[in-house]
Amino acid sequence: MSQVSSLSRSARRRHYLLCAPTHFDVRYSINPWMDPGQPTSPDLAMSQWQRLHGVLVDLGHTVELIEAVPGLPDMVFAANGAIAADGRALVARFRYAERVDEAPAYVEWFRSRGYHDVRQATVVNEGEGDFLTAGKQILAGAGFRSDPGSHDEVRDFFGKEVLSLSLVDPRFYHLDTAIAVLDDEEVMYLPQAFSPESRELLADRYPDAIAATEEEACLFALNAVSDGRHVILPTAATRLAAQLRERGYEPIGVDTTELLKAGGGAKCCTLELHDDPADAVDQA
Ligand code: ARG
Repeated sequence: MSQVSSLSRSARRRHYLLCAPTHFDVRYSINPWMDPGQPTSPDLAMSQWQRLHGVLVDLGHTVELIEAVPGLPDMVFAANGAIAADGRALVARFRYAERVDEAPAYVEWFRSRGYHDVRQATVVNEGEGDFLTAGKQILAGAGFRSDPGSHDEVRDFFGKEVLSLSLVDPRFYHLDTAIAVLDDEEVMYLPQAFSPESRELLADRYPDAIAATEEEACLFALNAVSDGRHVILPTAATRLAAQLRERGYEPIGVDTTELLKAGGGAKCCTLELHDDPADAVDQA
């Protein structure tokens, strides 16, 4: 019998931005998961994404959509589009030419939403793919995509403390493929995806973290979306789901196998709008 924790977790209502995989495909390779020779199923990608979207809505979160642009097959990975908090948006500057044209769509989206400070990053910065809010801190990744200098830019732009981490395994090229923020104080991660120095920083900051196995990380189980109580992760990640349950979380399985052909999962598809201006209006 699985042990059920007496710890009760509370969900915080979130605001997310997603982009439907209308033009999803794998036509180029910019990470080790992408093989343009392997067939993709647009229908399966769409139904997997719709299930993720449905779960977020059913949990009571507000989900906005940005329109997919033809010719940009990776735009479904909305997490990469920006970092957004407190009415300010720092829009991505993508590393690879294949994705650079996504940025103007995000600039436009945030401007039209009434964000008071919308700027494109000046150095390579792949949005929430490499920058995860963890309580008052922002965990920042570098090594494959975002430039180390982007960590300073994020610190200055948002005025928040940034913990810089180095990624060392090309399969886990974005921070959100190697670590998941479960709540303000808790994370799960794959230690060997980080440099020895970063491992020490993480062990020090999160002594009770859940350590994932490489096998689970390869399912993109760390590419999870948590609202503080519910944790959306791949259905196949049963060991991690059991560990989450023991700690009082409610794991929710989704299949993102088709999106994994592009090197993405649930979190990659989900950009959190932290303290979106519309939430203040809602609550007024
Ligand atoms: N094919 C996309 C790329 O390589 C996948 C992005 C995944 N996004 C993420 N937040 N990890 O850029």
